[in-house]
Amino acid sequence: MKKRIGILTSGGDCPGLNATIRGAAKALYQRMGDKVEIVGVLNGYDGLINGNYREMDPSEFSGILTVGGTILGTKRTPFKKMRVIEEDQVDKVAAMKKTYKEAKLDCLLCLGGNGTHKTANLLSQEGLNIIGLPKTIDNDIYGTDVTFGFHTAVDIATEVIDRIHTTAGSHSRVMCIEIMGNKAGWLTLYSGIAGGADIILIPEHPYNIEKVAAAVEKRAKAGKNFSILAVAEGAYSVEESKMKRKQWTAQRAEEGHTTATNRIAAQIEQMTGAETRICVPGHMQRGGSPCAYDRVLATQFGSYAAGLVADEHYGVTVAMVNNHVTCNPLVDVAGKSRLVPDDCDMLNVARAMGISLG
Ligand code: F6P
Repeated sequence: MKKRIGILTSGGDCPGLNATIRGAAKALYQRMGDKVEIVGVLNGYDGLINGNYREMDPSEFSGILTVGGTILGTKRTPFKKMRVIEEDQVDKVAAMKKTYKEAKLDCLLCLGGNGTHKTANLLSQEGLNIIGLPKTIDNDIYGTDVTFGFHTAVDIATEVIDRIHTTAGSHSRVMCIEIMGNKAGWLTLYSGIAGGADIILIPEHPYNIEKVAAAVEKRAKAGKNFSILAVAEGAYSVEESKMKRKQWTAQRAEEGHTTATNRIAAQIEQMTGAETRICVPGHMQRGGSPCAYDRVLATQFGSYAAGLVADEHYGVTVAMVNNHVTCNPLVDVAGKSRLVPDDCDMLNVARAMGISLG
């Protein structure tokens, strides 16, 4: 009996999606030969809702190990709207189940982050055979030590910090680099340490602007003519942490500072007199070819998923735990996230190096 395996990529893209698709596909063909057919669902859950899928040719999985983005396309289709009937009157859950049946799928691989995993779990609970694969540059999926895409983004953000160092030194400036990560600070923490940032501010650890300014001044007094701040896009201050998100975003807008980086740079300039500049590498952190680490991880994850398909082990997502590839029940992962804990080793390394965490 032939098996038909669907694959989709959902949510924000990241380097390593194609490498994972390739890893799964090649390992499936290797195990099952012509007893497997692969169906590409286009643009994530949107394709599943709208019946946008096509049978893939094995040749389409060649030459994509190094290619950034996703050959299947992706889209953000918010989980919280999945059960909401909107103006178009489409019952999204029923539509996804219909497409799964119509495409005669035996299983669907869902590559994505936290939102993707919530919908994957919903579909699994609705009786579909689902396997998740954890992607995100944020590295914040519960139950796995690492996600594919993260290390490539660390490399890119580190290169930005490296390059900013020379211009900061030439101009004797304080440079604030905004690193992606709204809720999770992993990317800022790792790239900040790799790039030798002087101050690292992450959402899990609200900053005190007095301490940030003091760290800048301490460096100046020690004869350092510049300072580098790695600031997570979702960083917020101790005062802001006591307010509702809506309140502090309104307050920032009133002050004319939309992002944490903007606000911090302006406050440092005012408090220390140092000239400041902002650098926002933005989606560059999600673009281009995956690094070697992510290519290996993607291949490990993809081939493990093929084993799960062969064993008909569904309702799980692939994970790396203590250097071993394994899987966790979707129901245990959905709706949770993995943030930087207070006792994180890497935070202790930063403290030991004299890096200010604000
Ligand atoms: O989840 C990955 C991520 O890059 C976050 O770090 C960032 O906050 C968000 O996606 C940006 O999303 P979008 O691409 O939709 O602007």
